Amino acid sequence: MSAEQPLAPGIFVTGTDTGVGKTLVAAALARHLRDQGLKVGVMKPAETGVDDPTREGSDAALLRWAADCRAPGEDVAPLRLRRPLAPSIAAEKEKVFVDFGALVESCRRLRRTHDFVIVEGAGGLMVPLAGGLLMADLARAMELPLLVVCRPHLGTINHTLLTVFSAQTMNLPVHGFLINGMPHEPDEAMAEAPHALASLASTDLLGVLDRVEDADERRKVEALARQIPALPTYRTLRRNLGWPEKS
Ligand SMILES: Nc1ncnc2c1ncn2[C@@H]1O[C@H](COP(=O)(O)OP(=O)(O)O)[C@@H](O)[C@H]1O
Ligand SMILES: [Mg+2]
Repeated sequence: MSAEQPLAPGIFVTGTDTGVGKTLVAAALARHLRDQGLKVGVMKPAETGVDDPTREGSDAALLRWAADCRAPGEDVAPLRLRRPLAPSIAAEKEKVFVDFGALVESCRRLRRTHDFVIVEGAGGLMVPLAGGLLMADLARAMELPLLVVCRPHLGTINHTLLTVFSAQTMNLPVHGFLINGMPHEPDEAMAEAPHALASLASTDLLGVLDRVEDADERRKVEALARQIPALPTYRTLRRNLGWPEKS
C-alpha cells in the first residue's frame, strides 16, 4: 500500500430533523475556523430540492462561501437533485445513480487537502440515501464523528435523545449536540431544554446559539459565527471537534 496524505479531522453535521439549522451552524463553524486561519473544506454530499441541478444548491453554496472553499464542485456537492425529497427517493424518481463510494472518496479527497472538513448531511440520520443505505451509513463510511444540531422547542428532548441514542447504538461517535435558534425570550420549554439535554443526552452540550433576526442568510451566518467564540461551552466545542491550532 502506498503512503497516503494523512486525513484531516472533520465533523459530520446531522440534525434532529430537516430545517433545524444544520446549514447555518455548519456554515458558522466553517466561517469561524476560516477566521482562525484554517483551510476549511466543506461538503454537502447530497442536496435535494435544488432548482437547477447543473449548479450547486443553496446549502452547498452557503457552506462554500462561509468557508471560502475552492475545492471542486464534484467534491463539495457531488449529488444534486431537483425534487425536495429524501435523496434515495429523489434519485430514483430522477433516474440518478447514487454512487455511495464516490461520495466517501470525495470526502477523503477534501480531508487530504484541507485542515478541517465539515460535512452537512441531508435531513436527519435515518434519511435514506441509496438503496438500504442511510445518512448514518454515510457518516460511518466517511469515518467522521457526529455533531447533532437540534431545536430549542418543546419536543427537542425527545428528538435529540432519539438521535444521539440511535447513533450510539450504531457505534457512531457523537462529539456533542448544539441547540440552535434560541429566541431572546424563550418560553418555559425552551429555557429548560439545555439543562435537561445536558444531563440526559450522554454527550456534551457544545453550545446554544441564538436566533438571529435577519432576512439575509449570509448575514445570519456571520452573526452566528460571531457567537461561537463567545459561547460558555467554547472550550468543550474546541476540544471535541479537535480542529488544529493555527499559529
Ligand atoms: N440561529 C438562527 N437564527 C435565525 N434563523 C435561523 C437560525 N438557524 C436557522 N435559521 C433559519 O431556519 C431555516 C432552516 O435553517 P437551515 O440551516 O437551512 O436548516 P437545515 O440545514 O437543518 O435544513 C433557514 O431559513 C435559516 O435561515
Ligand atoms: Mg441544510
